[in-house]
Amino acid sequence: MAANYKNKILVIFAHPALQRSKINIELRQAIKDTDGITFRDLYEIYPDFLIDVIEEQRLLVEHDIVVLQHPFYWYSCPAILKEWIDLVLEYGFAYGHEGTALMGKSLMTAITAGGSEDSYKEDGVHYYHVRDFLRTFERTAALCGMNYLPPFVVHHTSELMNPKDIAVYSDLYKRVIMSLMDLKDIDINTMNKFDYMNDFILDQFESWSV
Ligand SMILES: Cc1cc2nc3c(=O)[nH]c(=O)nc-3n(C[C@H](O)[C@H](O)[C@H](O)COP(=O)(O)O)c2cc1C
Repeated sequence: MAANYKNKILVIFAHPALQRSKINIELRQAIKDTDGITFRDLYEIYPDFLIDVIEEQRLLVEHDIVVLQHPFYWYSCPAILKEWIDLVLEYGFAYGHEGTALMGKSLMTAITAGGSEDSYKEDGVHYYHVRDFLRTFERTAALCGMNYLPPFVVHHTSELMNPKDIAVYSDLYKRVIMSLMDLKDIDINTMNKFDYMNDFILDQFESWSV
């Protein structure tokens, strides 16, 4: 791989009510027009849910890192993203004996959650950690031979009405995306020492600045 090679990033975005979004709309804005990123808003492209599987598969093949960005809905993703996963990651393409198209690529989830970080603990209202709820995405990536990166998570969205707080997360998200672009060898074990990509990136920036 050439020294100046940049990973190509495909962002698959799903929000069924973007006109009411406070957080995703800003995160989306922070990254969507960045060079080297292909940004796909599923509800905008497929208002009738008729997903163009061939086109989606073609895009997946062309990219190195796939980011699934969405609000956390019922501990999972909005419906159109599940439809996309069901149809696009098909047998013979994404998994199965000859389904090797995604092998070696990476997957990261970028979610916003109404619940606070503390609420996603054993003594909190959601009982399980966010990463426990995301196991289905983690295992889907594994079955496709992909590296599963720690998720980027924005918690407690109802408390984040302050534009300054939202701007901090938008900047961090942009940093995450830019860092993933520049990442040469993805050391999945080091990354996965961090529950969230947020913390991995902040740790990287701290160690670079000393
Ligand atoms: C249908 C629905 C289901 C939701 N399920 C969850 C959930 O399981 N866990 C959680 O923390 N927040 C949940 N929320 C809150 C959303 O995650 C939160 O409103 C969203 O991330 C805010 O982002 P936005 O401003 O871009 O819409 C849910 C909201 C809706 C409308």
